[in-house]
Amino acid sequence: MSVLPATSPRSTRTLSRPLEAGTARGRALHVVPPTAPLPRTVGADLVVPTTSGPRTYVNLDLAASTPALETVQAAVDRTLQTYSSVHRGAGYASRVTSAWYEQARAEVGEFVGARDDDAVIFTRTTTDSWNLLSRALPRRTVVFVFASEHHSTLLPWGAHRTVRLPIPSSIEDALDLLDEAFAEHPARHRLAVVTAASNVTGEVWPVARFAALAHEHGARLAVDAAQLAPHRPVDLAGWDADYVAFSGHKTYAPFGAGVLAGRADWLDSGQPYLAGGGATRAVTERGTVWATGAARHEGGSPNVVGAVALAAACATIRAHRADIERHEAQLLARLRSGLETVPGVEQLSLFSDDSDRVGVVAFTVAGFDPSLVSQILSVEHGIGVRDGKFCAHLLVDELLEDPWSESPATAVRASLGLASTAEGVDRLVEALRELVTEGPRATWTHTAAGWVVEGDDPRDAPVTRPW
Ligand SMILES: Cc1ncc(COP(=O)(O)O)c(C=O)c1O
Repeated sequence: MSVLPATSPRSTRTLSRPLEAGTARGRALHVVPPTAPLPRTVGADLVVPTTSGPRTYVNLDLAASTPALETVQAAVDRTLQTYSSVHRGAGYASRVTSAWYEQARAEVGEFVGARDDDAVIFTRTTTDSWNLLSRALPRRTVVFVFASEHHSTLLPWGAHRTVRLPIPSSIEDALDLLDEAFAEHPARHRLAVVTAASNVTGEVWPVARFAALAHEHGARLAVDAAQLAPHRPVDLAGWDADYVAFSGHKTYAPFGAGVLAGRADWLDSGQPYLAGGGATRAVTERGTVWATGAARHEGGSPNVVGAVALAAACATIRAHRADIERHEAQLLARLRSGLETVPGVEQLSLFSDDSDRVGVVAFTVAGFDPSLVSQILSVEHGIGVRDGKFCAHLLVDELLEDPWSESPATAVRASLGLASTAEGVDRLVEALRELVTEGPRATWTHTAAGWVVEGDDPRDAPVTRPW
């Protein structure tokens, strides 16, 4: 099958909703809702140096970090006009800034489908959120986690109280493994942690089923939504899950804020994550009374710019939800079918090929070191992807198990988002086709520092400081 013709997703999108019928002055008329353009990201027209001259950058590394949305940039600019302390000042600017911080919390709470009595805590990242929750767990809590998880979700709980489950072969297998593990490890407090969408295969886990299973056993469920949040709804209450975490820098708000939301009881009685100003109710010579609610874990001056940025991203994504999902589904289908046409390219799946997925595809190219592939895509074609094990070493080792191979098992990952385009996807597919059929354009040498292109690496041109 050949690669589909390059067309702009914006020019080919049709109505965002079906025609609505209405009446005016007795005459039936059709109201055609305007097609809302997809939200734009800052730097979408970036041109980068390549060995073939300057080219528009194709960023297919969005599972790592996303650029800011323009709405986020605007909200940040506006926040900076009155930037001041949060919950610490009587001045007008402090009042406004404090109000925005709490409005941001409410917006993010809605984005994750938080219940009225859930805590919504601003953190730095998903990693930070899980470390916070880990410290707040009641004593002797047993934590259940699959070996397939991202290290940020696998490791924060402490080996002594973690039951590590084998990598499952299917969702049903995962549910059975968890069911058995619950039966084998009774404890008063138990927490299972699962990821809603894999950062390696993009496969989506039906987290509501895991929540139901956990609750059947009197346990709780925490959901890693780092890869789901930019693409699909996060719904704590709808899933009946207990905790959720995600990261602003993966959700078009790269200003240093992440979120942990969920049941307030453990969080209110757990050890404060950051002891310090703002986290206390009273400090006397006799001792400290710690605050409850989000303040307990948000010691120090909060990152209000990050919180507002994240709220702005959440609001924008919610307003464009249906269009984003449709656009990304089309691009993912185009990417996966395009890669199928390139000889030697194999896409990684933990479950079946027809699993529900977000726009993350890890693959190998027969005969080519993944790190060379990603360097060639960058230097020769101006395409950004990632190679390696994606902080999910156990999963990638399992997916690439090759007892005869002497080279470390790694893969290439292409990941897309709302600002990705059909042209970008096609450029990746064609660059890979050229590589496997004609070889690299340049001469490449493997050195102790990795793959090096012969002659000048165009990316080495000095860059001026951004300040
Ligand atoms: C599924 C998943 N969970 C957790 C993380 C950790 O996110 P952060 O680096 O923002 O803490 C990542 C990052 O790639 C991820 O993909």
